[in-house]
Amino acid sequence: MIVDALLSVLEKRRGRQAKHPRSSSLAPTPEERESLDAARVASYPGVYPTGWVPLLPASELSDQPQGVHAMGRSLVVFRTESGATHVMDAFCPHLGAHLALGHVCGETLTCRFHGWQFSGAGEVVSVPYGKRSPARVGVHPSEVYYGMLCAYLGPAGVVADAPYLLGRVPEIEDGRYTYRGSYDAHDVRMNLLEFAENSADVQHFAHLHDQFRIPWTQVPLPGVGLEHSATWRKDTDEPHVCWFENEATVTWRGKRIEGRGGKARVRFDGPGTVIRFELDLGERGTVMLFQFHTPKGALRQHVRFRWFAEQHVPDGLARFVVGHWVSQWEQDLEIWETKAYRPQPGLVAEDGPVIAMRRWVQQFYA
Ligand code: FES
Ligand SMILES: [Fe+2]
Repeated sequence: MIVDALLSVLEKRRGRQAKHPRSSSLAPTPEERESLDAARVASYPGVYPTGWVPLLPASELSDQPQGVHAMGRSLVVFRTESGATHVMDAFCPHLGAHLALGHVCGETLTCRFHGWQFSGAGEVVSVPYGKRSPARVGVHPSEVYYGMLCAYLGPAGVVADAPYLLGRVPEIEDGRYTYRGSYDAHDVRMNLLEFAENSADVQHFAHLHDQFRIPWTQVPLPGVGLEHSATWRKDTDEPHVCWFENEATVTWRGKRIEGRGGKARVRFDGPGTVIRFELDLGERGTVMLFQFHTPKGALRQHVRFRWFAEQHVPDGLARFVVGHWVSQWEQDLEIWETKAYRPQPGLVAEDGPVIAMRRWVQQFYA
């Protein structure tokens, strides 16, 4: 109870402060930032991949159509009277009005400009002053995935069928794990590739993530450290899936405290837009954390978290564990937000499977 209250005070305090505290002396002026970012953008092999992309939390869906910008595309999201949700290209095929200015009427979306009506399949079902039009609006496959509306977006300008589905979690489907909370980290100035690359970069854990921080903060606990043992691999059955596993052990003044720590089994469904963490706390239970990245630009990702836990895991423990991950994640941010991509990195043999991961992720940028 006390821990719960303390954590919730810390979270609230943090909400009032800057989202992502920065610690170093690298603070570019706006002009420097512009040229730094230009150099960074030029270094990346691609801006947007294909794949399932989180668009917005299902709780934000309303009866009004909403404009969403993701992966360089303008989209409109709307929910019909029967409760079906659709994701379409935003610009009306008639004369280009943004369809989010329109309104939902029964099962159709009406464009504000000339009143054409579109079905959820993208067909014109009514032209108020004329005959039927063969014009269509592109409709993207979509689903609500554990509280987050996601759409499959293919190559730029193309409406494509989804070649894979997001992996479902039986324990959530059957109610053994229940929803516990969410955290919106808003925009971070990184390229999407960096998150996938981070998971295969096994050597940075010992260097960057060796200190225990008070969850939801960057405050280190003096003397308390972390040791990591990390691996990365492609899934053998599902080509769009890769796994990253890490076992963290708590240390006290450099000595391992056996049995203190936890295991993380992390699954990427696609290019790093939808990531699921199974955080195994031993007999204390399991927390399932989803991390969602919505690519808004070459160097801009909107990051959101949602978590579930086994029924007997107290909310405070779940929040502690998620806050621990968020604190660790924030340590990478300053690196990600200022780094460039090295197409030919100067790796040593012990660096881990960075190249194998790059080959794997390339399938989404073809
Ligand atoms: S632009 Fe949409 S109906 Fe004319
Ligand atoms: Fe990291």
